[in-house]
Amino acid sequence: MSEEKHGKMFSDEQVKPFLPSAEFKSKALARDDKLYKKAEKDRLSFWADMAAELDWSQKWEAVLDDSNPPFYRWFTGGKLNISANCLDRHVNNGLGDKRALIFEGEKGDTAQLTYSELLEEVCKFSSVLRKLEVDKGDAVTIWMPMVPEAIVAMLACTRIGAVHSVVFGGFSPEALKDRILDSKSKVLVTADGAFRRGKTIPMRVAAEEILPLCESIQSVVTVERTGTGYEPMDGRDYRWEDLMADADSCFDPEPMDAEDPLFILYSSGTTGKPKGILHTGGGYLVGVNTTFKYVFDHQPDDVFWCTADIGWITGHSYIIYGPLSNGATTMIYEGVPDYPERDRFWELVEKYGVTVFYTAPTAIRSFMRWGNHFPAKRDLSSLRLLGSVGEPINPEAWIWYHEHIGRGKCPIVDTWWQTETGMIMITPLPGVTPLKPGSATKPFPGVEMDIVDEKGNSTGPGQRGFLVAKSPWPAMLRTLHGDPDRYLYTYWKQYEGIYFTGDGAWRDADGNFWIMGRVDDVLNVSGHRIGTMEVESALVDHPSVAEAAVIGKVHEIKGHAITAFVTLKEGIEGSDELAAELKKHVGKAIGAIARPEEVFFTYELPKTRSGKIMRRLLRDIAEQRDLGDVTTLMDPQVVAAIKDGYTEKQ
Ligand code: WTA
Repeated sequence: MSEEKHGKMFSDEQVKPFLPSAEFKSKALARDDKLYKKAEKDRLSFWADMAAELDWSQKWEAVLDDSNPPFYRWFTGGKLNISANCLDRHVNNGLGDKRALIFEGEKGDTAQLTYSELLEEVCKFSSVLRKLEVDKGDAVTIWMPMVPEAIVAMLACTRIGAVHSVVFGGFSPEALKDRILDSKSKVLVTADGAFRRGKTIPMRVAAEEILPLCESIQSVVTVERTGTGYEPMDGRDYRWEDLMADADSCFDPEPMDAEDPLFILYSSGTTGKPKGILHTGGGYLVGVNTTFKYVFDHQPDDVFWCTADIGWITGHSYIIYGPLSNGATTMIYEGVPDYPERDRFWELVEKYGVTVFYTAPTAIRSFMRWGNHFPAKRDLSSLRLLGSVGEPINPEAWIWYHEHIGRGKCPIVDTWWQTETGMIMITPLPGVTPLKPGSATKPFPGVEMDIVDEKGNSTGPGQRGFLVAKSPWPAMLRTLHGDPDRYLYTYWKQYEGIYFTGDGAWRDADGNFWIMGRVDDVLNVSGHRIGTMEVESALVDHPSVAEAAVIGKVHEIKGHAITAFVTLKEGIEGSDELAAELKKHVGKAIGAIARPEEVFFTYELPKTRSGKIMRRLLRDIAEQRDLGDVTTLMDPQVVAAIKDGYTEKQ
């Protein structure tokens, strides 16, 4: 297993479990094991009961159609509309004046929208999309900063039955282009720019270079955020404000088949090409509605803040669809946690009385490093529950989070899931589960996870293995857009009839799951998935580079830091300037999050006799471990030379 070091770092089962306080438990939605029992008795009827909490314009015929595995279908024959479930349903139930969305801009500008107001905006943008000739099944790409318009655009897509593809605002125009081409989007919704750390980052004008290559795009809608200029093209470019000014504020939601596509979200895999993970509406909404309700113990007056970006699955499922389908108040913040000051998050918790706060371990480790005085000077007494997602949380960070943010009284839900799973899969129920810092604890009711060895047999306590899902779950991905074969071999070929997550894990004697991290060539950098191959293809695309191997070096804050080992073409010499240029080049091809922290030049890369690059050895070199047996290498000298050179440079 490649993540040995993480496994050791993050698995401390000796700590005494933390139990929910009597006060928390007395008010919690789940206080005992009833949900688990119900799901164990009959998993499908459990999910049918959960589905019945939503509004269906036509009830499903079958909960699960498993006649063509692994192309599973959920709630077949059922019809519903996602935006109607997230908005109209609550307005009709008297919640029209409840706050749906709180927005805080980086500069401190704010907006709050009630359910009625959000519904009106969504109807207007639905009318706009229809006018721009977007039909049911068409794709719309959304490349935006964290502003309310992004959420309005997503919900409007669901209202008219279009498929949204949200591209993280921090991805480069090149990465945006690849995703537009793959999804064949008709419309691009973007902003003129984004604010970041007091600076403006141009977006619309930056997209100019790629738009001529995106033939499918018929219209571009631009929200004015920063006032950054661009050259609009007649007949293609529209300003959001102009379109919305005279848009119809009534728009009937389109009844959609439960299995109609809802969105595509691109995620890194083990090849250079990102995977277009496809989710459909019915099962996805059932999954995120149920998990949001019970994992975050939703109470009517909660103010829920998930700090993810809407460009990632966490933003889709737990900023938008899970909270809104529950009629919750969800908050978004445009900026970063340390601008203008390192207490910005705690300032916002205090300002809005945030009750449930969901963030990533990498952020928690930064908060720890910045110092206890930042949270200490703010009133965090409104918080009652904390969450963690995206990577294993080390027990030290867990304990710090519990003490300094949760003030010792908030349970922490460490939630394991993936873009592919759509919904939280392994998690505590905060009023029920004894918490062990560093463990995501147990599968959610109705979800069947296991840890297996190479042959597919369940592992015993303490034995490391591969994390799998033994049966389908409602919010599962349905396929990879345009590539069903890749769907089959990425997830379903390792073990017959079982979903392979790509993560390593082990179980303790109490049956708690401890996740060790990825076992494939996917890195987790600050909670974001980056494929080593994607970064390598970006590097070899540079005219000076002959070959590149990218590894993740264990990093105190980020989880992994990207380190690139690069061989140059004949006659080209490595230099600090070239290293800086290559980092920039990757930033341009993918985005700043994929920029290598270190570029190291070497005359050869270590390869097996069959020519495969041995990334494991490079990882050992970078983390200064013993190299062990290198005799299977084509040229054992190479690795010694790289090691000496690398060590000298540190
Ligand atoms: C990792 C993010 C340990 C894991 C929702 C998974 C975690 C990948 C946890 C998915 C957790 C996510 N503990 N590891 N609580 N949550 N991961 O698709 O390796 O961006 O496979 O989805 O993040 O990342 P993705």
